[in-house]
Amino acid sequence: MSPADIKGLIRTVPDFPAAGIQFRDITTLIAHGKGFAATIDHLVERAAKTRSGAVAGIEARGFIFGAAIAARLGLGFIPVRKAGKLPVEALGIDYSLEYGSARIEIDSGAIEQGERVLLVDDLIATGGTALAGAKLLRQAGAVVDHALFVIDLPDLGGAAALRAAGVAAEALID
Ligand code: PRP
Ligand code: ADE
Repeated sequence: MSPADIKGLIRTVPDFPAAGIQFRDITTLIAHGKGFAATIDHLVERAAKTRSGAVAGIEARGFIFGAAIAARLGLGFIPVRKAGKLPVEALGIDYSLEYGSARIEIDSGAIEQGERVLLVDDLIATGGTALAGAKLLRQAGAVVDHALFVIDLPDLGGAAALRAAGVAAEALID
């Protein structure tokens, strides 16, 4: 299944979670067995080329794709969690995204100093979330030079902002 076919499995929901937002919903993609498997195949092919030592996924939708990539490549998975979920002392950062603001946290002990970590999420819009994730992982000692997404919304400039921060951003679908 090609990225164009995968795109056809993504549902668009107007005005969610706020008026004016075209919400690109991956629920319909991951419910489709062949579509989900093909998405992971394409992501794994790109992830392997980055020669990363671990994969970090951003809660919640980034867990679905990031964990699958990590398992296929035999790499460890680092959950970048929404605030207040980690049972240990955490490093955190506040950020803004297309429709709000939030805080993400990691267990700083989960990162090996100088380890090359691939950042994964389902979608990049403004880039607020991914930039915060990269910054947090770097604060913990990771090298973050690649990020992978299923969907990029290029009009919102997130991938360009990530590249300006030294992170090569790739997506299967625009
Ligand atoms: C969505 C998406 C990305 C982020 C992208 O997450 O999964 O993480 O928004 O937006 P940005 O590029 O403007 O920062 P959301 O916070 O809605 O959380 P969820 O995965 O828990 O649904
Ligand atoms: N996260 C930020 N913007 C989004 C959008 N338009 N659709 C789905 N998730 C998003």
